[in-house]
Amino acid sequence: MKIIAIYSSKGGVGKTATAVNLAYDCARSGKSTLLCDMDPQGAAGYYYRIRPKDSFHRKQFLKGDLAPFIRGTDFANLDLLPTHFSFRNLDIALEDRGGSAKELKKVFAGIKDDYEVLILDCPPNMTLLSENIIIAADMVVTPVIPTTLSILAFAQLVKLTDKLEVNRKKLAAFFSLVDRRKNMHSETISKFGKKKIFLTTEIPSLADVEKMGIHRQPVAVSAPTSPAALAYNQLWLEIWRRSMQL
Ligand SMILES: Nc1ncnc2c1ncn2[C@@H]1O[C@H](COP(=O)(O)OP(=O)(O)OP(=O)(O)O)[C@@H](O)[C@H]1O
Ligand SMILES: [Mg+2]
Repeated sequence: MKIIAIYSSKGGVGKTATAVNLAYDCARSGKSTLLCDMDPQGAAGYYYRIRPKDSFHRKQFLKGDLAPFIRGTDFANLDLLPTHFSFRNLDIALEDRGGSAKELKKVFAGIKDDYEVLILDCPPNMTLLSENIIIAADMVVTPVIPTTLSILAFAQLVKLTDKLEVNRKKLAAFFSLVDRRKNMHSETISKFGKKKIFLTTEIPSLADVEKMGIHRQPVAVSAPTSPAALAYNQLWLEIWRRSMQL
């Protein structure tokens, strides 16, 4: 099972939109896929119209007791592990368990033969949970809005990866919410986009992505021929190709 984390310490950069759409494209390509909603805001579950079971709690999650809580989606090959309100304290719980950055890897060990791909929709922070995510993931995909603060968050992620002595090749960034009419976006992309760590696919700022909140479906379902659906599919193909080279 390949673990692909959609992670950024910054909020609102498009992590959930990306996780939801990539999970759909991954499943559509025939791979058995699990989308794990690690953010207590529960947006990924919301987009797939799935509510968590009340009995699910971070205690079960941390014990790796996942199977009873995994739910099917409306789509072939795609399951979802919903979040729970108690996940807001996952960091504290990880600290209480000894503060190791290797706990999350163990959490997913029990389902490693059940899925080909596990996609994590991560909450926006830079904590012990983030360290666990970076260690557990085979690939950490980070959306970067082409602006100063998003680039700063990206630089901090590279620093954290180095601190954890994790191979930088695990990281892949892409430009998210791109508006080429803005000089700052174009200039930032020309300055940083050539770095190997950046994927070539950009996800533009598009109304169809925002409307996912109304349709509660991946864009490839609500607007199959839209530029948004095509952009996410291209991003998925690029991520998958890169993950095969690792
Ligand atoms: N490519 C896009 N085009 C237009 N709107 C987008 C795009 N990507 C995301 N959005 C919108 O931007 C907002 C933030 O997106 P999203 O929830 O995916 O970000 P996030 O990084 O997961 O946020 P958080 O850190 O709060 O979890 C949402 O309203 C979403 O609909
Ligand atoms: Mg999110």
